[in-house]
Amino acid sequence: MISRTHVSRILAPASMALAVMVSTAAVAAPNMDKYNKSCAMCHESGAAGAPKAHSEKAWAPRMAKGMDELLKSVKNGLNAMPPTGLCADCSDEEYKELITYMASPK
Ligand code: HEC
Repeated sequence: MISRTHVSRILAPASMALAVMVSTAAVAAPNMDKYNKSCAMCHESGAAGAPKAHSEKAWAPRMAKGMDELLKSVKNGLNAMPPTGLCADCSDEEYKELITYMASPK
């Protein structure tokens, strides 16, 4: 019979490898699920005057304000952009990744 400890000894390295993979992915790319459900609605098309994703021209003057200012704009809202940018559960880190993603050329 296989004991419970035996099974977890086999599974532990596998779940550790998975955790490493997940955390590297989070650093390399923004949370696309959250992006598609919120920011993308306006920023993919440039609706209502939103700086269009991956347009260097649209983003250069925004990025010049500095990341802290941009983070504030998203959290408090700015003109046609509602507070939180419709991502109520985004962390500051996630907002920054999303902003960097949109401001970078594709
Ligand atoms: C309902 C539409 C809408 C959604 C959803 C939205 N935005 Fe925006 N966003 C805008 C508009 C419109 C502007 C331009 C505001 C202005 O300058 O008048 C803007 C501007 C910005 C700016 C520039 C702010 C500044 O200070 O210049 C950032 C950064 C930004 N959005 C990030 C995000 C992020 C990140 C998300 C998703 C979490 C998001 N937005 C979701 C409409 C939206």
